[in-house]
Amino acid sequence: MDAATMWGAVVVTGGASGIGRALAERFAADGAAVATFDLPGTTGPGAVHVGLDVTDPDALGAAVGGVEAELGPIGVYCSNAGIAAGMGLGDDADWERCWSLHTMAHVHAARAVLPAMAERGGGHFVVTASAAGLLMMMRSAPYTVTKHASVALAEWLAVEYGDRGVSVHCLAPQAVRTPMVAGSDERARRELEAAGAILEPGEVAEAVVAALRSGEFLITPHPQVRGYEAAKVADRNAWLAGMRRLRGRL
Ligand SMILES: NC(=O)c1ccc[n+]([C@@H]2O[C@H](COP(=O)([O-])OP(=O)(O)OC[C@H]3O[C@@H](n4cnc5c(N)ncnc54)[C@H](O)[C@@H]3O)[C@@H](O)[C@H]2O)c1
Repeated sequence: MDAATMWGAVVVTGGASGIGRALAERFAADGAAVATFDLPGTTGPGAVHVGLDVTDPDALGAAVGGVEAELGPIGVYCSNAGIAAGMGLGDDADWERCWSLHTMAHVHAARAVLPAMAERGGGHFVVTASAAGLLMMMRSAPYTVTKHASVALAEWLAVEYGDRGVSVHCLAPQAVRTPMVAGSDERARRELEAAGAILEPGEVAEAVVAALRSGEFLITPHPQVRGYEAAKVADRNAWLAGMRRLRGRL
């Protein structure tokens, strides 16, 4: 089966920029019919681009229906749109924005596409979380907590749909060279840089395609993240002490 046939129609949210744009370009390079969803007023590299707020379930459902009518059944859905909001503890509006985008947008997407994928017995659903969803983004509590929720949701979906032919994946990168990082404040940038290499969006897209082919649930384009997570689970006191030392240095 060639790659275009294998993927079916591909949807990438946050597809106008950064990691989402690179994902859309990567699937398009395989010959897949790609639709990008991003905020109104944006443009994306997909054959179809829909301007919408993915936290609006009605708009998202309509866009999914439109893509299936135009491009055919969705075989890959990358729920990727995200924001860097809420420095420190943030305010209630920061929590609401992060929760609606980093968690509920994935729930709306799951409701819109997973039952049909399960009925067809095939498909890939990728949740873009972050290494902060396994570990921590010290600069932002709302980002950290809602990315943890996106990891937990991806795990829940993988169990719920895994025996029905749908492969669910969770993307958890550290720093990637995108407008999100460029727009971060100085302390957040220092934290990202302290974490290790800054990858290019294309490298992350390549890691996603490799995981879709291999069936690997957790996609960690920065391999050291797995070691950090293992160390955290093995000894939380030691891990928290290490994070406090890092915070002091930053
Ligand atoms: N860049 C990094 O270092 C990094 C690291 C870990 C995880 N991530 C995650 O990767 C994903 C992509 O981030 P990026 O770095 O490419 O950022 P980016 O800012 O380049 O792209 C994010 C895109 O999402 C879109 N978007 C935001 N809110 C939206 C909404 N409500 N509806 C529709 N579209 C919306 C934006 O318009 C933008 O085009 C995010 O979920 C982010 O949290 C990024």
